[in-house]
Amino acid sequence: MATSASATDMILTGGADEPLVHGGDLGAARRLFPGAVEPFIDLSTGINPNPYPLPRFSPALYARLPDPDALDALSAAAARAYGAPSAAHVVAAPGTQILLPLVAGLVRNGRAAILTPSYPEHARAAALAGHSVHPVREIGDCGGAGLVIDANPNNPDGRVFTRTALLALAKDLCRRGGMLVVDEAFMDVGPPGASLTADVAASNIVVLRSFGKFFGLAGTRLGFAIAAPVLATRLRAALGPWAVSGPALAVGVKALADSTWIERTRRRLEKDASRLDAILVDSGLDVVGGTSLFRLARTEPAQSLFNHLREPSLRSRCSIIFANRACAVAVQSSGARWYLGARFPGSCGLAALRSSGE
Ligand SMILES: Cc1ncc(COP(=O)(O)O)c(C=O)c1O
Repeated sequence: MATSASATDMILTGGADEPLVHGGDLGAARRLFPGAVEPFIDLSTGINPNPYPLPRFSPALYARLPDPDALDALSAAAARAYGAPSAAHVVAAPGTQILLPLVAGLVRNGRAAILTPSYPEHARAAALAGHSVHPVREIGDCGGAGLVIDANPNNPDGRVFTRTALLALAKDLCRRGGMLVVDEAFMDVGPPGASLTADVAASNIVVLRSFGKFFGLAGTRLGFAIAAPVLATRLRAALGPWAVSGPALAVGVKALADSTWIERTRRRLEKDASRLDAILVDSGLDVVGGTSLFRLARTEPAQSLFNHLREPSLRSRCSIIFANRACAVAVQSSGARWYLGARFPGSCGLAALRSSGE
């Protein structure tokens, strides 16, 4: 089943070379809302607003090339934290984004089914790798695909497929030489037991884990592919040496081993998300999904609310937000901290909102 008017469709018609518009562009937000109160609150991402505390970096980390032993230590820490079979199954990269076309290129060109609505870069990456891209809604719609890509939990709706369902899909794909890519960018806050990181020995499953979202350090650019060693070796070769910077190696190894911070943060995000839901419901929005790193809410007048807030007389009360043609707006108002309206590309009338850290 194809989705309608989604960002995926834009890629199919606009070409994989076209950059997609993403949230988080504060420069664009400032141009859109000149004179808005600062700091802006960026609700367009699923990045933890309370980042892992940065260690004090030695200047040598910046002066020297990244150390191969530090890369090994990071791979071992990631294998332990994510439950991968071993460090040999872990490929460290400067964020998962750069891995998307490389992973899509691990299988022969053919039909790629992408479970949607989802992070639109997957469709662009699959097209870049030479696949014909087919947005689908359900696992049962993936028949005939040689490559299936699923974000689990999904962005923006938080949908989670069970491990059993995904393993059955991988088995089915294996029979026809196909591959399953599971993007677990938000699995740090996903349901226990849903990750496929321990199942990658199957050789046709690749799992992606994003460091920047849960640890709140997206600018560090760190992410991982977890795959059978034969695939991991190919991905490492494609990335080449020194793909991950020295400071990213240093903070990654520390953060991934910090189980106290990880547990405390999971609990805190859950509490924040519940609090945000209460505010949203109180404000008349219908919360329809998400994870504790972002919420998805429905609000029919999202676009008109956004336009209204661009009125010069209201600017001083606008705090912000989004830098996307899909727009989100936060208003600082007495009592409730935020009222939001937004439109998420491809999901008509839905708003993508992130949990408040305060
Ligand atoms: C589902 C999903 N996967 C992957 C990414 C890329 O994340 P990063 O490159 O920072 O690891 C994003 C970014 O928003 C995302 O939402």
